[in-house]
Formats: sequence, C-alpha cells, structure tokens
Amino acid sequence: MSMNITPVKKGEEVHFKNPSKKFYEAIGGEEGMRKLMFNFYDKIYESEIAHFFPQDEEEFEKIKIKNTKFFIQICGGPKVYEDEAKGMNLNEFMIRVHDDFSINEKARIEWLGTIREALQEVEGVDEEILEDFWSYLDNFSKLTVNSFADGSTYYAAYTQAQEK
Ligand code: HEM
Repeated sequence: MSMNITPVKKGEEVHFKNPSKKFYEAIGGEEGMRKLMFNFYDKIYESEIAHFFPQDEEEFEKIKIKNTKFFIQICGGPKVYEDEAKGMNLNEFMIRVHDDFSINEKARIEWLGTIREALQEVEGVDEEILEDFWSYLDNFSKLTVNSFADGSTYYAAYTQAQEK
C-alpha cells in the first residue's frame, strides 16, 4: 500500500476530490468511521503535534466526536456535521477552522503520518478505495498549511475536481 505524502508547494493550486462513498461503505458506515477516527485521535494525543490540541481529556473527547462527524459527512454519510459549518461549503469551512493554528509542512506530515498509521490498522477495505480516501487527505491537507519556512503565511488557491 503506498499512501504517499506529496509535498505542499507554496503558491501551487491544490486539486482534490471528496472521498468516494465507497470508503464510507467499506469501512462499515458511521460505526467504522468512528472506530478509525477515534484511533487516529488517540494516536494524535501521543504524536509530535499533540500540543496543537486540547490537553484536557474531556475537551479532547469533544474534538474527537466533532471531527468524526465531519469525516462521516465528507465521505458521503449522513449530513451530521452540517450545523457546524454554518451553511458554508464544508471544505471551505474546514480551511478556515485551521486558520486559527499555525500549521507548517512538518505538522502536516506528522498529521498525515498519524492518520496513515490508523488507516493501516483498518481491515477489509480494498487498496484502491483506501488510496482514494488517502488522495483526499494528502491533497486537502495542503490547504491547512498556512505557515512557511520563509516566514510567510499563505493560503493556497483551491480547486475541487468535479465528482464523476
Ligand atoms: C485532510 C486534512 C485535515 C482535515 C480533513 C481536518 C479536519 C479537522 C476537523 C473536522 C476539525 C474540527 C473542526 C471543528 O468542528 O471545530 C479540525 C480541527 C483541527 N485540526 Fe484538522 N484537519 C486536517 C488537517 C490538519 C492538520 C495537517 C493539522 C496540523 C496540526 C490539523 C490540526 C487541527 C487542529 C489544531 C484543530 C483544532 C482542534 C481544536 O478545536 O482545538 N488539522 N480538523
């Protein structure tokens, strides 16, 4: 399984496609997504980027629940995150959420490496379907990077490829 991380390039247009619903179905719907995302956030708690997140366990639990709802919806499940996005396009809203944090390429790579570990523990999902989900994560995460080595902050222009 490849799940390669491609580097973010300052100023480059980012193309991404929302994950195929096949991933949501293959992982076992809401329950499967919850298992994956909770495992991921447990790993985040032990990662190099743990300091970005609330240290209080109860607060962290709330983040897990909220974030899982986003992933359920973006993967084609029920619209359980709709109210959080306050009517904005889900992906645009998600980029704005990350504006509050100074995220650089190193943090992105740690984030991706952590979710990749959680994905490697998932059983029974075809490689092709996993790669489709991965491609969304790899590309979309570039848009959360807002802090660069030269000290500049920059938000990449983004293009969302049309679902076929
Ligand atoms: C594919 C890329 C990513 C997705 C889909 C994603 C998704 C999310 C979601 C759904 C939330 C919760 C938003 C809310 O309702 O408040 C969130 C918050 C957050 N994310 Fe991400 N994220 C991504 C990449 C990253 C990266 C690379 C970092 C690097 C550090 C990061 C750090 C954070 C932080 C610090 C929060 C806020 C936690 C808090 O509320 O205290 N995210 N993200």
